[in-house]
Amino acid sequence: MLSKKIIEEIKSKVDIVDVISRYVSLQKVGNNYRALCPFHTETTPSFYVNPSFKTYHCFGCGASGDVIKFVQEIEGISFIEALKRLAKEANVKLELDDTSNFHSLYLRFYSQLHEEYKKNLNDFVISYLKNRGFEEEEIEKYEFGFSPIDSDIPYKLAKKLNINSLRKLGFPHGRDPFSGRLIIPIKDEYGRVIAFGARILGEGQPKYINSYETEFFKKSSTLFLFDISKDKIKNADFAIVCEGYFDAISYHRAGLTNAVATLGTAFTKYHARKIRKLTQNIVLSFDMDSAGIKATMQSLKILLTMDFNVMVVVFEDGKDPDEILKTKGKTGLLNIVQSAIPAEVFVPKALAKKYDLKNSNAANMYINELKEWSEIFKAVPQRNENFKNAVKEILGYDIDFAKSRYFITKGATMLPTLEDMLVYLYLNFPEQFYRLDVDVNLLNFEAQKFFSFVNDENFSFEKLSKEMEDYIKMILKKMENTEIDETFIETIEKKLLERKLENRIKEIDSYLKDATDEEKKVLLQTRMELVRELKKLGR
Ligand code: UTP
Ligand code: MN
Repeated sequence: MLSKKIIEEIKSKVDIVDVISRYVSLQKVGNNYRALCPFHTETTPSFYVNPSFKTYHCFGCGASGDVIKFVQEIEGISFIEALKRLAKEANVKLELDDTSNFHSLYLRFYSQLHEEYKKNLNDFVISYLKNRGFEEEEIEKYEFGFSPIDSDIPYKLAKKLNINSLRKLGFPHGRDPFSGRLIIPIKDEYGRVIAFGARILGEGQPKYINSYETEFFKKSSTLFLFDISKDKIKNADFAIVCEGYFDAISYHRAGLTNAVATLGTAFTKYHARKIRKLTQNIVLSFDMDSAGIKATMQSLKILLTMDFNVMVVVFEDGKDPDEILKTKGKTGLLNIVQSAIPAEVFVPKALAKKYDLKNSNAANMYINELKEWSEIFKAVPQRNENFKNAVKEILGYDIDFAKSRYFITKGATMLPTLEDMLVYLYLNFPEQFYRLDVDVNLLNFEAQKFFSFVNDENFSFEKLSKEMEDYIKMILKKMENTEIDETFIETIEKKLLERKLENRIKEIDSYLKDATDEEKKVLLQTRMELVRELKKLGR
């Protein structure tokens, strides 16, 4: 069994600095080490490793823990799995019979269950697959199966293997949840079945059911078909990432065997890290409905900040790789991948669809939203160039993102912002600050960082980063001679309220695009009231 002593021994024998430096580049500062945090996006380092305490801590996002937690989080694996890896490194023998036995039992269960499901493939299912364009050999190749009506196969099998907890196998108690469905095996990167996806044969809801997550099956780090795509991803030096089982399979059928799929959940940094070991280039191939575009944007943020080069396949709304293969054949699908556009061109195009750009207010909001992206793209000159050209093509004029930022910071050095006032108040009269109802989430990034810094229980001013020190200095200078009196507090209260109202208006604007007429009426009504309130405050 696992004892606390063994865990401590492992922790003392592995060098936390050595382990962490395999993932980020650590810089020595005093007795500690510092780096850009691997758990959130940042441009100035706030991630610290303390070799004497053997811990890490990020002042930006709050991630912290010991070396086991680090390996767990960065690899997206379980505590036991992380412990095993570190034990090996530390040359410590782990008596983990229970878990490792269960792992092999788990794999045996899934492999045998898969065989059973394959045996049950019948003519009806085969004709379903043929209808979807599959040849006989392909049906075998992708190892589809079928769970018969009223199946109790998983239960019988669990009994045979003497496994009591079905939940630990990813199955509910009761009846086979996949009964009557086409079975798609989900494998780990070594090709071992660890879960199933199951599609209804024909129309109906839910279209897919998946195994529950287990100790050995995490959706956030599993990529469908990764096991048979690895080599091709490496050789072709790019990976295609899509969102559906049949999308990935379609690419494979078309000869693009470097395609993988997420499992109906968001693309995560754990997925990204798996791919990163093989290539730095990704082609995203999500649906182009509003959910798919949102998923694309979110994935892009993860991928670009991890230094991937990303292209996006632009499908017509409602089309997916499966459909393209069916209607346009292999060449059709190849052509569409070849016409993928760079992320920096995709983003301004996709965002433009959200706004009515003839309206100057909307155009301003569009530009504001792009500003954030310009920060991400500007790291690479060619990207920056492509991005600006794409924006110009859409708006008809050049936007100098660098300059408009400059303008804002310039302006800010003259007029104190809400953030300046709050930080100043906190530094001088924290008790007054706490009497205010401050929603930190409504503040800008720097101020959020400041407050998460000072609210950390281990906070002390000596620990301030250079960046944070400069920030505070800048505010103190700007607020020089400001008196903290009733009027000052009232001004802050008013500004807080303004900020809240503005934020709600922004929220409403983001809902409006996809709202039904009925919803629009309600939203616009609320929006009008909010604007009226804002005006009352003198805006
Ligand atoms: P889609 O609805 O786009 O399905 O879901 P699809 O891939 O086009 O499916 P086909 O071609 O009609 O068979 C994309 C992915 O989202 C997950 C599945 O992983 C699916 O492949 N999903 C979808 C679910 O998990 N459950 C659902 O009910 C629907
Ligand atoms: Mn489909």
